[in-house]
Amino acid sequence: MARKFSHTFEVCTCRHVTLAEIVYAIKEKNAKTLEDLADITDAGTCCKSCINPECDLGVEKRELYLEEILNKFNKE
Ligand code: FES
Repeated sequence: MARKFSHTFEVCTCRHVTLAEIVYAIKEKNAKTLEDLADITDAGTCCKSCINPECDLGVEKRELYLEEILNKFNKE
């Protein structure tokens, strides 16, 4: 079963961007790409490990990535 994330879940820890801010950028500001998200929220503009698992060089992987969120909304 897929995990439910709180709207306050910090997707991008470098820029302190929450899931709610990402969803707002997608739904209300029409963000379609990682570049759009970066322009609107600053998410993914520092270490880039929040973009996808391949960019995440940490030993402990993140639970949620920007690409996953974008893909979910782009399918709807
Ligand atoms: S965690 Fe998002 S840029 Fe570093």
